[in-house]
Amino acid sequence: APDPADLVLPVRTYADGTGRAHHHAALPVVLLHAFPFDARMWDEVAAALPADRPVLALDLPGHGAAAGLTPAEPSLEAVADAVAASLSEVGVARAVVAGLSMGGYVALALVERHPGLVAGLGLLDTRATADPDEARANRLRVAAAVEASSTVDEVRPMARAVLGATTLAGRPDVVDRVATWVGEQPPAGVAWSQRAMAARPERGAALAAFAGPVLVLVGDEDTVTPLADAERLRAAAPHAELVVVPGAGHLSAVEQPALVAEALERLARRADAAAER
Ligand code: MLT
Repeated sequence: APDPADLVLPVRTYADGTGRAHHHAALPVVLLHAFPFDARMWDEVAAALPADRPVLALDLPGHGAAAGLTPAEPSLEAVADAVAASLSEVGVARAVVAGLSMGGYVALALVERHPGLVAGLGLLDTRATADPDEARANRLRVAAAVEASSTVDEVRPMARAVLGATTLAGRPDVVDRVATWVGEQPPAGVAWSQRAMAARPERGAALAAFAGPVLVLVGDEDTVTPLADAERLRAAAPHAELVVVPGAGHLSAVEQPALVAEALERLARRADAAAER
């Protein structure tokens, strides 16, 4: 199994910023996906960001095209190290890092381990707490079941659980797409990520210590990491902007990509401005 720092994760580049009309710096936005998904979940957000904003999304170890790229020991620290190494590989030394749910856990690990990389932090439908014992035990059970069956059947119910009532009731195309994405994840990667998330520590202190601009965003129909979780993040980062996205569940970036892109661009501009000072 590869060392995290030697991993080169697949990077989707949506815009390289070369079309930029103005001379001001535009920091790249790096998007980290949720579980059990891959970088495709960001396609619509990326398309809704201004054309002159460089945008990258990575497949995290074990997911999408990063299927086989899992370090031996499952941990989000290893994921963060692999993200940092992969960004360095494509010449990104400083970026606005935004993660949704599991991606948010990784973003917080990046802030802790690679603070120089993070110019702005987007925490979408996520939390900074560790798992309660019962949730941790359930992740380990799911990981074992996925491995034993060599299928992702055990996590298929998540495809609906991550969507809001509005999407479930009115947008069968989105419901289908999300179910397809879950079904396409490699079982070994799904098991690996469950174990990595089970092992994650609480990271409120890393958030509190982060001096750059912060966005905390949550879908108003998110039942996985509901508004109370976003308010807890906000309490740890009083300078954060808190955005509640209407008509979205846990997968806000897929359910309301234009509103999520707007909030991310606002965050990126705050980071641009801070970088110019
Ligand atoms: C996610 O959306 O990434 C997962 O719900 C995160 C988790 O299982 O805690």
